[in-house]
Amino acid sequence: MTGPTQQQLDACAARRGRLMQAIGPGGVAIVPSAHEVVRNRDVHYRFRQDSDFRYLSGFLEPDAVLVLAPGRADGEFVIFCRDRDTTQEIWHGRRSGPDGARADFGADQAFVIDEFEERLPDLLSGRQRVHMTLGDHEHYDSLVTACVREIREVSRRGAAAPEEFVAMETSLHEMRLIKSAGELELMRTAGRVSAEAHRRAMAVTAPGVNECRVGAEIHYEFEKLGMEPGYGSIIAGGENACILHYTENNRELRDGDLLLIDAGGEYQGYSADITRTFPVNGIYSGPQRAVYEVVLAAQRAAIDTLRVGNCCDAPHRTASRVLTEGLVDLGLLSGEIDELVETEAFKRFFMHGTGHWLGMDVHDVGRYKIDGQHRPFEPGMVMTVEPGLYIATDADVDERFRGIGVRIEDDIVVTDGDPENLTADVPVAIDEIEALMREARG
Ligand code: GLY
Ligand code: MN
Ligand code: MN
Repeated sequence: MTGPTQQQLDACAARRGRLMQAIGPGGVAIVPSAHEVVRNRDVHYRFRQDSDFRYLSGFLEPDAVLVLAPGRADGEFVIFCRDRDTTQEIWHGRRSGPDGARADFGADQAFVIDEFEERLPDLLSGRQRVHMTLGDHEHYDSLVTACVREIREVSRRGAAAPEEFVAMETSLHEMRLIKSAGELELMRTAGRVSAEAHRRAMAVTAPGVNECRVGAEIHYEFEKLGMEPGYGSIIAGGENACILHYTENNRELRDGDLLLIDAGGEYQGYSADITRTFPVNGIYSGPQRAVYEVVLAAQRAAIDTLRVGNCCDAPHRTASRVLTEGLVDLGLLSGEIDELVETEAFKRFFMHGTGHWLGMDVHDVGRYKIDGQHRPFEPGMVMTVEPGLYIATDADVDERFRGIGVRIEDDIVVTDGDPENLTADVPVAIDEIEALMREARG
């Protein structure tokens, strides 16, 4: 993997500056990296850096901790990392070591990770607040809380002990929620490549093809650019689409079924998140078309609400209403629309939310409510819009609709003007999808 560009390192430095401004001289931020996880015996899962850690440092190695101590005379930006080790590097790959952390990543001070515990009292003493998300890194939670306790015990002799632990939600995660121009460029690339992957999937899908083969085509598009899936891909033929987190991806696709694919690639740490639902044989049946058109109308109406002036629950409120109207038209629900929306009767067929923040994490950080109220949209926020309808095989409804599951999902940026769709390169209208599949078959 190539390292971060100078531009990305400069962006990390600017973020550290903003975070230190936000936490002030009484605060210290501690951000551990991700660590390698054993898959079996001495094989590890593919390593992925912690998003907060990467956002602030660009440093992609495991077993590191970043400390930001505003105003600290010996250096505000401190990295603890693995030491250089010839044998380890021959077997497992390059390491920066503390010298590299200083020279290449701009740390004011860098130490080997084994020194973290002994150097912690110096970094914490005199600070009132420790900004650290407890609960994610048990090992560091206990080192830091033990250190705070020790400082408190000796504080009668002078040193002030931190009084508060503050989660990252109100500082770092507020920063991550609003994407910069540079981050949006990375997300455009993630969206464009992921859209290409979905088009490729539509082109190879046919009766008799296995779900895993379609998944392989999608992952090929990611891997050939050094990307990987941002989450477990869902390749769900027929009624498998009604299992919301279906990841078995191993059934043969049947003529006459739909195929729901929820897959997105991660580019330079930023994920796309796209769902399309299309016919295995290239032509939507009447009932499939009817359900699909309802979901598409809901999605289009919901996307149009991602505007400054609306609150972040607007997409869900809009989608729920349009879906409810469609369910009544299809005869799947009956009653008064307002009451059906009010009582959430649609939940029988639409049981998830309409979207979530998107960024480095597919379900990205950022609060949805502030002081109990849904927050207003701001330019630079990115949200998925993903309404769906899922009609179980045993649902007590017109049998023509049973086993149909449809979701349509795109990644939308809030701007000063119209919403920007990062994933618009993959067809969504029925005519466009059928045309693509027809052309692919020659
Ligand atoms: N792919 C996960 C989601 O759509 O939320
Ligand atoms: Mn999503
Ligand atoms: Mn998704």
